[in-house]
Amino acid sequence: MRILGLIGSARRLGNTEALVKEALLGAREAGAQAAVEAGAEAGAQAGAETVIQSETAVEVSLLRLTDLNIKPCRGCMSCVFGDGTCATKDDDMPYLLDLMLQADGVVIGAPTYILSPAAIIKLITDRFLMVAPRIRELRAKKRYAATINVAGLPSWDPFGSSMLNMFALAFQFELVDSVTAFSPGPGETLLDQKNIEAAHAAGQQLAEAAAGRGKKAGFAGGEGVTGVTGAAGAMQGSRRNVCPVCGNLYFAIFPDGKVTCPICGAEGRLVAGNAAGSGIGNAARSGPAAGGLTVEFPASVHSTNRWAEEPLIRHVNDWIIASKDTYRQKRPAIKELLQKYQRLNDWWIKRD
Ligand SMILES: Cc1cc2nc3c(=O)[nH]c(=O)nc-3n(C[C@H](O)[C@H](O)[C@H](O)COP(=O)(O)O)c2cc1C
Repeated sequence: MRILGLIGSARRLGNTEALVKEALLGAREAGAQAAVEAGAEAGAQAGAETVIQSETAVEVSLLRLTDLNIKPCRGCMSCVFGDGTCATKDDDMPYLLDLMLQADGVVIGAPTYILSPAAIIKLITDRFLMVAPRIRELRAKKRYAATINVAGLPSWDPFGSSMLNMFALAFQFELVDSVTAFSPGPGETLLDQKNIEAAHAAGQQLAEAAAGRGKKAGFAGGEGVTGVTGAAGAMQGSRRNVCPVCGNLYFAIFPDGKVTCPICGAEGRLVAGNAAGSGIGNAARSGPAAGGLTVEFPASVHSTNRWAEEPLIRHVNDWIIASKDTYRQKRPAIKELLQKYQRLNDWWIKRD
């Protein structure tokens, strides 16, 4: 089993690196345990004792994303309109994609920089169209992800974990866990044992899922443990009013009570009071609550959210790819309107 750790921080031996490495230790431990148990089972069936070398059960590797040469998407659409390949030929995106797709599980870690994950995460997520025409192929093999978000303080971390989770969902990984730890200084995260334990458990859960032994996966299955630590743990601990698909805490609320998650488009309803026992989604799991407002999500959000297989394929085929022809029809009119702006070319600063 291959588990790949992706580090989205340039800071050497910083919080992300420490916790991603801890998650890989957890993955190795769980993988070794799974291998020993599977070996014992096979041995029992064969009437012999089977000993498995525990270290070889899970192969872990690490990549610092900021060490790669990843260029911004050029918006040329050749990956979806053209021959299916990216027009940028001289960067590490194909290398990274290969590694991610070969892995059975990935641990994706990144610090929050100005309210959301460090830019390298968005740079890579923006290149998602490279895999968009291959969703079914990607889905053919089950691949799992756990994310680790480190940030300075909860009030400045609205999108750290949910956008990291979006990275995993976009590249068609099944999310098994999402850890958030608050610690500003490099390595400071290690002063709180809960952070180490949460990262370790996330890695264990990842390896167990990849070995086909996991509990129903994370947010997606709704039964996983969200290893959220620190103040975010207090916010999310009850799992109340959290998007069951991506773990997002911030929603758009419409006058009719409809609620949507901006990250994954999951649709729910805002209801007054305790929704326990309603039998659906997140709210049903949140347990008795003392009144207040609850966002209820139907269990169907796991297959209807924008990153789920069928909606995503529909979006790619019926909207993105279909826009090639509809745009072509509009092109003559657009070309005429653009002339005015084309003439303003002497405004460009020429850098020497
Ligand atoms: C440029 C920069 C911007 C940051 N912005 C935020 C922020 O908006 N919210 C927050 O909670 N922490 C912010 N932080 C704190 C980092 O998330 C925190 O230091 C984290 O532990 C860094 O992880 P690392 O050690 O793996 O690099 C920022 C740090 C830097 C360097």
